Amino acid sequence: MYASGAVAMEEPGRMEHAMEHAASLSARDFGRLSRFIYDTCGIKMPEVKKTMLEARLQKRLRNLGMHSFTEYCDYLFAPEGMEKELVPMLDMVTTNKTDFFREPEHFNYLTQTVLPEWMKRHGAGSISIWSAGCSSGEEPYTLAMVLSEYAARNPGFDFRILGTDISTRVLEKAKNAIYTESQVEPVPLELKKKYLLRSKDRSSGMVRIGPELRDKVRFRRLNFMDEDFGMREQLDIIFCRNVIIYFDRPTQERLLQRFHRQMKMGALIFMGHSETLSGLDVPLVSVYPTVYRKLR
Ligand SMILES: C[S@@+](CC[C@H](N)C(=O)[O-])C[C@H]1O[C@@H](n2cnc3c(N)ncnc32)[C@H](O)[C@@H]1O
Repeated sequence: MYASGAVAMEEPGRMEHAMEHAASLSARDFGRLSRFIYDTCGIKMPEVKKTMLEARLQKRLRNLGMHSFTEYCDYLFAPEGMEKELVPMLDMVTTNKTDFFREPEHFNYLTQTVLPEWMKRHGAGSISIWSAGCSSGEEPYTLAMVLSEYAARNPGFDFRILGTDISTRVLEKAKNAIYTESQVEPVPLELKKKYLLRSKDRSSGMVRIGPELRDKVRFRRLNFMDEDFGMREQLDIIFCRNVIIYFDRPTQERLLQRFHRQMKMGALIFMGHSETLSGLDVPLVSVYPTVYRKLR
């Protein structure tokens, strides 16, 4: 009784201690940060996101041993911070939710309609796909599984996938290609057997994407706000799903115009289910729900 009473007395004290040291984000610092985030990566940070931003950046403050957001902002906006802190800060503010076989009808449409049409036009060859805003790799590896299956049934067909993201943290995960059993749950069993490697230590519950798929996917960091995407080739297909939802309409329009330049004539772009291009000044026509084609 005594012991548990002592613990009960201690807990609130500890909490007060922790709260005392959690820095709070003033309206002025929130304004500086939200403007900077919008300018740097296009992500909208309205007032309602203040608590979220504060919570996410508190971890950075702790890691840097800083006690206030003003100190953090002064560091971030100085030349040294710009060089060292920009990437970790953006890592904290991006939302990276993703899944294997997310919005699965897109993958059915791809194998049942898009790829057969592409084969009819090209006979054989290698299709190029860009997973733009690929997060931790679930989307490009899903594409790699689906396209490998298609290639096995269609001799002469090959593919290359590029995955890009602004966040170096998620790109590291994507390159490692290691996931938990529960993360790979949406992968159909026969594809799991074919393309996933179990850890030697079965109890770890981890799996890795096999080398034949890893070899098909390249990853690199790319910020959609950069002047130059550094891409020489035009692509057959772009997947840019659940990304532009974080941008305002003018930023969405500018980005889609740039994607359009990056697409071959007749190429397709797949958007997320809650994202529409209607009303944007970009010559892409709808061919399937949330799938658009470049016709000129
Ligand atoms: C919600 S995830 C979507 C992942 C995947 N496409 C899907 O649908 O499952 C959005 C991704 O967009 C990335 N992102 C946000 N702003 C970006 C920018 N300015 N340039 C490049 N990637 C960005 C984020 O880092 C994040 O990983």
